[in-house]
Amino acid sequence: MNNQYKRTLVTTALPYANGPVHLGHLAGVYLPADIYVRYKRLQGEDIIHIGGSDEHGVPITITADNEGISPQEVVDRYHRMNLDAFERCGISFDCYGRTSSGRHRDTAQEFFREINAKDIFVKKKERHFFDPEKERFLSDRYVTGTCPICSYPEANGDQCEQCGTHLSPRELINPKSKLSDKVPELRETLHWYFPLGRFQERLDSYVQSHEEDWRPNVVNYTRTWLKQGLADRAITRDLHWGVPVPVQSSEAAGKVLYVWFDAVLGYISFTREWAEKEGSPDLWKEYWQSPESRIIHFIGKDNVVFHTLMFPAILMAWNEGRKDGIYSLADNVPASEFMNFEGRKFSKSRNYAVYLGEFLDRFPADTLRYSIAMNYPENKDSDFSWLDFQNRTNGELADTLGNFFKRSIDFTKAKFNGEIPCDCSDDDWNALGIDWKKSFEKLENAYNRFHFRDAAALTMQIARSANRFLTESEPWKEIKTSPAAAARTMALSVNLCHTLAVAWYPVIPHTSNRMYAMLGFDQTLDEAIRTGRVSWDMAMKPQLGKGHRLSGGSDILFRKVEDRDIAPELEKIERLLAEVEKKEADGDQTASIKPEISFDDFQKIDLRVATVTDCEKVKKTDKLLKLQVKLGSGHRQVLAGIARSYEPEDLIGKQVVLVANLAERKIRGEHSQGMILAAEGNDGKLHLVEVGGSDVNGKTVQ
Ligand code: 2FM
Ligand code: ZN
Repeated sequence: MNNQYKRTLVTTALPYANGPVHLGHLAGVYLPADIYVRYKRLQGEDIIHIGGSDEHGVPITITADNEGISPQEVVDRYHRMNLDAFERCGISFDCYGRTSSGRHRDTAQEFFREINAKDIFVKKKERHFFDPEKERFLSDRYVTGTCPICSYPEANGDQCEQCGTHLSPRELINPKSKLSDKVPELRETLHWYFPLGRFQERLDSYVQSHEEDWRPNVVNYTRTWLKQGLADRAITRDLHWGVPVPVQSSEAAGKVLYVWFDAVLGYISFTREWAEKEGSPDLWKEYWQSPESRIIHFIGKDNVVFHTLMFPAILMAWNEGRKDGIYSLADNVPASEFMNFEGRKFSKSRNYAVYLGEFLDRFPADTLRYSIAMNYPENKDSDFSWLDFQNRTNGELADTLGNFFKRSIDFTKAKFNGEIPCDCSDDDWNALGIDWKKSFEKLENAYNRFHFRDAAALTMQIARSANRFLTESEPWKEIKTSPAAAARTMALSVNLCHTLAVAWYPVIPHTSNRMYAMLGFDQTLDEAIRTGRVSWDMAMKPQLGKGHRLSGGSDILFRKVEDRDIAPELEKIERLLAEVEKKEADGDQTASIKPEISFDDFQKIDLRVATVTDCEKVKKTDKLLKLQVKLGSGHRQVLAGIARSYEPEDLIGKQVVLVANLAERKIRGEHSQGMILAAEGNDGKLHLVEVGGSDVNGKTVQ
């Protein structure tokens, strides 16, 4: 860990401008990053938050084709929509750029040229699907066909939506072009590959140097890749939408950079854009090219290897042989797990999601920020539910924080003319039942180690103590028996309000700003922090002395979420769940009921009992198992997409049904000689069709 840093660059994964961001995105990436950045700003540190839209990639061209509009129109729409939602949620980007911008194109091309000039890329000729009618090469997503694993008839060329297996288009049975429905041809084309393997050792030691401070999931996932050995990765595509490959020869015609190659460079191009806007065009170098700076990438777990291997390797390739303009590698990559929604995965394609913008049309941003911070998916997947949201808003934000704040302000106004009646002594402050030193140490530790749920919970703990102090002191009684005691109680309470306004700023900044205004400051809290008038340490001590005047207004910090507010949401979930289940059932039906075949055709299928003798997982997939089966006196190797349903050792000795005369196929580079029958159970797992009895190996199944 770089402890001697002077400034920090925080980046957040660039969401595709191909749909609205949902609460899962917010929970995993943008909210934790914003909480961190705001905390560091409060600490007076030099920190910038760079993000933006990922505007390339095939799904965007597919949306454009489907809607009959241009890809630019698609990304314009979603860039605006997502930026607007982030702003309303208080995600305080210093720059929110776009990968379709000229500045980004120039940066990405500059990287390609530099690495190309060093002859690091490898060029390979290969055969790809080509649509003869549309005269276009088809990227993986533009090819559809039957999944070789689960027989789903509409699998995409890169992945089967039904069983989740990652595929290559040539593995599909009966492939078709999505553009014309025609059978595609294989044609030769040339592509540039990035030789990740060349950087294996350097990447190994980079990851090793961070083993102590990176999250275990990040280290383990990266290590798995490193152990398997890093292969060349194609970084160009035959596509009309993207950053053109900057090579002046016909071999680059019609080719663009692979979306992931250009997306990670967006972090750099957007920092340059920020520096230009700041009026200091070279300022970006201080964040990217100085040993005194730290870089932190906030991402979701699905993006880990792009940030721990691919991007560092690109930067190493740039740095190779250079004396200046050397890029630093990330200091940390806090990747989150996923946040589910009402117990199920968010799914854009199944329309099972709550979109950020829509949420903010109905509920205030801070109630969402708090609720999500308390469910931050740090080490394991978490869940967002409407009832949890309602309980946290009502029980914690409204009844604890809101109630304490309002009682403190209102009573001071009613009984002390809106002025702090006396100074707080250190002894009184330290007798409040809050161990200031310990609490703040714990809080700082939580923020510095990205434990945002702990940070929010600890801050709520301070609010609870404050609320308890006011309730137990009973100033409404004290005022009758001892006005001086009531004055002391209110001076402490209003100072606690100031503490809470500052301490809550990273998590619920809109509320903190409102609290700060009601405490009588004319500058906003944002501004006070920016100008150094307010800092984190001030939250630990009383800051408001005798005579400090509160502002005229006092309103409720949090409106309670009533049952009627969430009733439509709960109904919507039921509807969405029913739709998702119907879609899944339809998917099953389409998969199971295929066009009629004759009895003769059926008789061609030779089903046999086979016995599993050995089994292991297939590398680089979490779906496939490689089985060795005995069939009569022979042996076969069969690949089956059942790794999520069975452990390899559970299968040994099982008598299964094998389609014995299926033509041999290659899946993930492995031969598969037959197919094993299985059915999906209500538990969502696949259950093998098993045959009982002894001495049945090799027998026909009828
Ligand atoms: O997974 C995604 O949504 C990608 N658009 C993230 C890109 S992160 C970075 F490389 F820009
Ligand atoms: Zn499948």
